[in-house]
Amino acid sequence: MNMHAKQEPLVVVENLVKHFPVKIGAFGNQSAVVHAIDGVSFAIYKGETLGLVGESGCGKSTTGFALLQLHKATSGSVKFDGVDLSKLPAKDLRAMRKRVQIVFQDPYSTLNPRMTIGEALAEPMRVHKICPEKDIQGRVARLIRDVGLNPNVANRYPHEFSGGQRQRICIARALASDPEFIVCDEPISALDVSIQAQIINLLMDIQEKYNLTYLFIAHDLAVVRHISDRVAVMYLGKIMEIAGKDELFGRPLHPYTKALLSAVPEADPDVERGRKRIILQGDVSNAIDPPSGCRFHPRCAHARPMCAGEVPELEDRGEGHFVACLRVAEIEKETV
Ligand SMILES: Nc1ncnc2c1ncn2[C@@H]1O[C@H](COP(=O)(O)OP(=O)(O)OP(=O)(O)O)[C@@H](O)[C@H]1O
Ligand code: SF4
Ligand SMILES: [Mg+2]
Repeated sequence: MNMHAKQEPLVVVENLVKHFPVKIGAFGNQSAVVHAIDGVSFAIYKGETLGLVGESGCGKSTTGFALLQLHKATSGSVKFDGVDLSKLPAKDLRAMRKRVQIVFQDPYSTLNPRMTIGEALAEPMRVHKICPEKDIQGRVARLIRDVGLNPNVANRYPHEFSGGQRQRICIARALASDPEFIVCDEPISALDVSIQAQIINLLMDIQEKYNLTYLFIAHDLAVVRHISDRVAVMYLGKIMEIAGKDELFGRPLHPYTKALLSAVPEADPDVERGRKRIILQGDVSNAIDPPSGCRFHPRCAHARPMCAGEVPELEDRGEGHFVACLRVAEIEKETV
């Protein structure tokens, strides 16, 4: 039985498409379309963390932005708590914004340099009428404490903090409107390695304390494995595989996932010595003119002529493990 059968989905994404019209050519006089995401479907269950991984440019941030309606989707739907966000009138969408937040990669550009930390945290509380005016100061102090800083920093400005402290403040700001769902878009990629673990631990602590659900976007597979309950793997605007993290890392089925995971070093030196790395052929294809059929076929060692003609759909391989590969059954047999 699916481990989430009894759990309620908070976010349901169906056939989401986001195309960006762009100008190309030496003089920028030709029109083209970037197929940033092309028919993405998944659910995120209340209280879980869904990790989203894939190479640069595969559409991870666009998925997060479209999900929060920061990009208007070309087609498809995003339901939050049963409500189709793309159909909400502007007034209701504004009210919904309090429930869904985002933490970006770069804490420097997220904070207004002219606002003190206290003002930056109080603003969303006032906009969304989270509490009476008299309670705001106390709430700000509590938030600052909850993200591991001293409440007396409320009168200071963003430039007075280190990168890690600033990311803590961005997390506090995301929490200020009392959200239920947060998209974390590479929240530690811009930070020193030494403080990355602290921010991950903070995100995990506040998830429990504030009953949060996360979409966690990252390049670093070890981090994704640590923080996620389930993981989705994207390639050129499509989800190729989605499964519980132990299932995905222990039994990857899609040739692209296998290649991605084969690049992760093992902590155990004996295992590391025997690790076989799968070197992908060629570069990531162009999102302006994506390959026909399976988008991974020009780089897939298992590709057959049919892979260029038919688009694989996500297929249930049991235990909540979904794979989009036309040859998944044969490949599974070959590798047993
Ligand atoms: N505003 C935009 N206009 C045109 N193309 C865009 C825009 N935003 C993103 N794209 C393109 O859409 C595709 C997906 O981009 P996206 O930023 O979602 O990728 P990503 O997986 O988040 O990459 P990264 O890991 O580098 O952050 C890329 O080809 C990108 O160039
Ligand atoms: S459908 Fe074909 S090209 Fe795509 S991953 Fe499967 S075997 Fe490879
Ligand atoms: Mg991105």
